[in-house]
Amino acid sequence: MEKLWGGRFELPPHALMEELGASVAFDARLAPWDIRASIAHARMLGNCNIISGQDSKDIIAGLEKILLQVQEKEITWSSALEDVHGNIEAILTADIGEAGKKLHTARSRNDQIATDVRLWARDQTDAILSLLTRIQKSIVDFAETHIEVALPGYTHLQPAQPVLLAHHVLAYFEMFKRDRERFSELRKRINIMPLGSAALAGTPHPINREQVAQELGFDALSANSMDAVSDRDYLIEFCAACAMTMMHLSRWSEELILWNSPAFGFIEIGDAFTTGSSIMPQKKNPDAAELIRGKTSRVYADLAALLTLMKGIPLTYNRDLQEDKEVVFHASDTVQLSLAVFAEMLPTLRVNTPQMTHALTQGFMAATDLADYLTTRDIPFREAHHIVGEIVQYCIKKKTTLEALSLKTLQQLCPAIEESVFHALTIETLLARRNQPGSTAPERVKSALKTARKMVYTVREDT
Ligand code: ARG
Repeated sequence: MEKLWGGRFELPPHALMEELGASVAFDARLAPWDIRASIAHARMLGNCNIISGQDSKDIIAGLEKILLQVQEKEITWSSALEDVHGNIEAILTADIGEAGKKLHTARSRNDQIATDVRLWARDQTDAILSLLTRIQKSIVDFAETHIEVALPGYTHLQPAQPVLLAHHVLAYFEMFKRDRERFSELRKRINIMPLGSAALAGTPHPINREQVAQELGFDALSANSMDAVSDRDYLIEFCAACAMTMMHLSRWSEELILWNSPAFGFIEIGDAFTTGSSIMPQKKNPDAAELIRGKTSRVYADLAALLTLMKGIPLTYNRDLQEDKEVVFHASDTVQLSLAVFAEMLPTLRVNTPQMTHALTQGFMAATDLADYLTTRDIPFREAHHIVGEIVQYCIKKKTTLEALSLKTLQQLCPAIEESVFHALTIETLLARRNQPGSTAPERVKSALKTARKMVYTVREDT
């Protein structure tokens, strides 16, 4: 098959060279963006009289036809034609004849691929933004449904202090809010048009870059042709943002896996997102959460691969850059699937409120507040801390809980304690007293929830 660049060569490439160089098996998915960019380019070439109006029209009609064929999955891609660009140009020329050979005037595959990937990445960013909104909506709904439920909050995976379940899940709402900010921010740097940089130095043809940028919805033109054809910073940022979102999903997965284990018994994940065991009939395993946690590692690897790919690239385009595609495709696909799965899985969680309530009686969760109570009896905090430590040790020895101690016993351990201690140490009091902005008091959580609901139900999904 005729190469795009065959003229300079006497011999065809080695079969292994073809195998090494072919990218169409993975870059064919860029076809819709490649064709849209080519249509804009062909229109501009016609408008600027670089090619005739008739050729421009024929090319556009031919490309539109190919776009339909791509959508109908009617194209057989040929790896002998290397990449998506070579394939589309060959199909076009076979269909419309000589005019097809004029499409590549005033451009190179270097600015073409950079343009395609930016258009692709912009659409993926928008899709991820809308999935982040979707998961945030799931969180808000979940938090509202369980607004009365409290459970232990943990540090070091040791029971620490009581929190509302809604407060706990709203922590993830905040993480996804920051993820949204990151994707919105990097979208600005994606949406810059490299086309018109040609191979590296620009083109002598009297092109109109503004027209093409406008048709393709780019915010600005790249300012330096050499940077434009070899910059992949925006993909690194994109992968980093994907890695961060996966890290958030993975942390939450880890937690759901623990909570779903009979050892915790806090939740049961719905059947639709669990699987059974081929040998142990009783098993119901939290595979969705485990897979998301597992896939996170590979998205981290994508980021590491891109950073490493770029560190030795002299200006400008080098063929190494072809290796960026599978990496970003994987990161993007994985984060989108994982977000969608998580958003659907959340409403299937059955919360075991009695088990959470029971857990609140374990682990001396009122200890901090008992120390705080003693400070109101004029005992310095450091001393109060020590006294409560001794009371806890007493409970451990007697195999009992703080709440179960009688006033008499408490007073033997610390004479400053009075009847009022019992009110001070109820879960309701512990929660209600943490009433600073950002804390777990029901009043605060309800207002945080209101803010979250407003944010997520009024936001434009792609911003
Ligand atoms: N398939 C190539 C890539 O992904 C397209 C650009 C090829 N340019 C070249 N000069 N060989 O980077």
